Amino acid sequence: MIPARTSREQFDRQAPQYNAEWNAWNGDSLAWLLARARCQPAHTVLDVATGAGFTAVAFAPLAAAVIGLDVSTGMLAEARERARAAGLVNLTFETGAAESLPFPPARFDIVVCRLAAHHFLSVPQFAAEAYRVLRPGGRLLVSDTAEPDGDPEVDAWHNRLEVLRDPSHVRNYTPAEWRAFALAAGFIVEEVEQVCESGRIGMNSWIAKGGCDEAAAAEVRRLILEAPPEAVRAFSIAPSPDGDATFQWVRVALSARKPD
Ligand SMILES: C[S@@+](CC[C@H](N)C(=O)[O-])C[C@H]1O[C@@H](n2cnc3c(N)ncnc32)[C@H](O)[C@@H]1O
Repeated sequence: MIPARTSREQFDRQAPQYNAEWNAWNGDSLAWLLARARCQPAHTVLDVATGAGFTAVAFAPLAAAVIGLDVSTGMLAEARERARAAGLVNLTFETGAAESLPFPPARFDIVVCRLAAHHFLSVPQFAAEAYRVLRPGGRLLVSDTAEPDGDPEVDAWHNRLEVLRDPSHVRNYTPAEWRAFALAAGFIVEEVEQVCESGRIGMNSWIAKGGCDEAAAAEVRRLILEAPPEAVRAFSIAPSPDGDATFQWVRVALSARKPD
């Protein structure tokens, strides 16, 4: 699917929105990735679609070197400032796309990607590229916003409102789809899980971070406040008395290994 706005355009516009509040909504996903990565002091890590650099900054103290890659120069400016403020000297950032990683084969011990793959034009191509740049025995760790397996109504409802809020959204995939992507690229899948973030996301704040116009924002609000019962259950949607609401988007988390 071709998105209505490129990720580069979307994230150059919205870069300052990817702040500590946004990161707090996604803390359990980051903890999951850090725990499964088993990063060693000699490891070299690639953080694909690094955005404002939260994941790269979390990995840097554990690794020899980390490279954060992204298509958006606006997001990379935020990431560089975050790394500078943290005093990290083993973390660098480069411009590039997940579907054509600008690195030679077997360059990395770990490839990580958090909350970004739903923007990729081709996740199978990203998985193939991650496989190529990992050394034998290297690990791919992904977490992303996801749909529950086996619920096409919730899937269609959720992806529709995501595109309205952020026209660079392509698709949230299910855990079964993620397993298939990793297997097709040649990985051994170690774990695929649904992770429920403990923090609750505020609807109005989440919509504002997408930067859509007021007509689209009103439609996203309506879709959430009139969500089908399966979606209310799956995402624990709770309206507030002031007209706002809170919810917990489902995350898929994948750990996979390139064979030795
Ligand atoms: C929500 S941010 C990522 C957050 C970051 N991974 C973290 O853990 O804090 C999504 C990022 O994906 C980037 N992106 C989208 N499509 C991309 C692609 N095909 N290749 C590389 N980066 C991409 C966007 O520019 C944006 O910075």
